[in-house]
Amino acid sequence: MKIHNVIKKNVRGQNAYAIEERECAIKMDANENPHALSPALRKELFDTLSRIPLNRYPAAGSPSLRRLFAEKYHVHENMILIGNGSDELIQVLLTALVASSKRGVVVPVPTFAIYRIAALNTGHQVLEIPLDERFDLDLDAILNMIARRNPEVVFLSYPNNPTGNCYSDDRVLPIIQASPGIVVVDEAYHHFSDRTFLPRLKEFNNLIILRTLSKVGFAALRIGVLIGHAEVVRELNKVRLPYNLNTLSQTAAEFFFSHEKEFVAQTENIVSHREWLMKEMKAIRGIRTYPSDSNFILFSCQDDKDGVYENLLQRGILIKNFGNLGPLRDCLRVTVGTGSENAAFVEALKGILNR
Ligand SMILES: Cc1ncc(COP(=O)(O)O)c(C=O)c1O
Repeated sequence: MKIHNVIKKNVRGQNAYAIEERECAIKMDANENPHALSPALRKELFDTLSRIPLNRYPAAGSPSLRRLFAEKYHVHENMILIGNGSDELIQVLLTALVASSKRGVVVPVPTFAIYRIAALNTGHQVLEIPLDERFDLDLDAILNMIARRNPEVVFLSYPNNPTGNCYSDDRVLPIIQASPGIVVVDEAYHHFSDRTFLPRLKEFNNLIILRTLSKVGFAALRIGVLIGHAEVVRELNKVRLPYNLNTLSQTAAEFFFSHEKEFVAQTENIVSHREWLMKEMKAIRGIRTYPSDSNFILFSCQDDKDGVYENLLQRGILIKNFGNLGPLRDCLRVTVGTGSENAAFVEALKGILNR
């Protein structure tokens, strides 16, 4: 067998998504919630999970969860699709969409890597459009592309990972209005920005909102939510695998609803720590921070960012590094940690840059 005869060219042309697995005492690289569940909640959750019949398949399509999310978002449950993380929902969407060589998928860059990867895997052309110098959308370039190529979908990460900011609403809106295709507003970091396009679903049948429980404390459980028009969701449901979300995750997500206050208190705590961290980082010479509406901060280093990254790692702190090409070539990204983790990070960074 010749591998190029059986594997798609688009797949062969990629590298597998690499997750940096490095030993560290303080993990600030993956935009997770740094807080564990309280021991009492953890016990309650695990007691509930221990009663699950593991010999049975999960509820197909996560019906009770769909109802809970529908109530929460004030939409009909036929507008909700539950995924194994929002990653899976991105893949489901791209699998269902027409993939034409004359059209394509608009991805403002830099942004979340999975849009490009999943688009290539599903046979789409990727139309990358650089963000402007403030990491906002280049509205003219995107509208131009929409007019020329009639893209199947536009992906907008709002707030954007890894830059941290929400795009200007008055740039997002014209894109939704002008798009004959789908526009995904990915609100994975909604809990830290408090901004949303969800109410706009009433006006636009091409709008899809993505949410996830990964950033609020359940990253291990992979619970993503897609909210869109019923006729779109109906089609996507044909692509979704029947038992895509396991019973442990479905049950834990229901638990989330009955204890949402505790989770929200943690996200509020993260937002106030983000403000502290931002203030401290702004005072450090040799780096430049970018505004954040998320649970992480992007910053650029005047020189030797790889040295800064490795030095932090030697001190037990793992953050996210980016490749040495493109607009993030000087940048690193730190996820907001607990109070003591943030303090340790700031001390370490000062120590490294003031040597
Ligand atoms: C913008 C964005 N969307 C989606 C995801 C993936 O979320 P999930 O864990 O639900 O697959 C991430 C994760 O980092 C993200 O940054």
